[in-house]
Amino acid sequence: MISRKITRLFFPLLLATWDGSSAADPRTTNDGVYTEDQADVGEILYAQHCLLCHDKKYFRPVLKRWEGQPIGILYTVMMTSMPESNPGFLTEKEYVDILAYILSLSRYAHGDTELDYKNGALNELTVEARQRR
Ligand code: HEC
Repeated sequence: MISRKITRLFFPLLLATWDGSSAADPRTTNDGVYTEDQADVGEILYAQHCLLCHDKKYFRPVLKRWEGQPIGILYTVMMTSMPESNPGFLTEKEYVDILAYILSLSRYAHGDTELDYKNGALNELTVEARQRR
């Protein structure tokens, strides 16, 4: 029992720090990884394609469950399964804009650079519990 608990506590930490590259300090969702404009674009897309089934509160617990994991996995899940009625309907850029909006809904701070799906960037980015700054 105890060792299971420890695994549960530390596994996300391991994932967060275990980054195949040499980066000593992997980026997380607390590092201002999307822009305000991008979240605004995402909000419109969200209203058109997602709001029907997911109210704005839906993603808070979802992001919590994804803590410690690369956000790229959530992105892939979204893209391949949503909207439920028409998976893959949007472009990669549109899905990533929606993801930026989802981060803003959970009050992650925005920054100067857009969230980018290219070159596996999302796999280098870990979902981390939001930190108040
Ligand atoms: C027609 C209804 C419908 C629409 C529209 C829809 N979804 Fe979903 N979505 C669901 C259902 C049903 C599930 C699985 C059950 C659940 O977890 O609520 C789900 C699950 C998800 C999950 C998995 C959550 C988890 O537990 O990890 C994500 C992410 C998601 N939706 C994102 C989106 C996004 C982004 C859009 C808009 C592009 C969207 N959905 C549009 C019905 C919908």
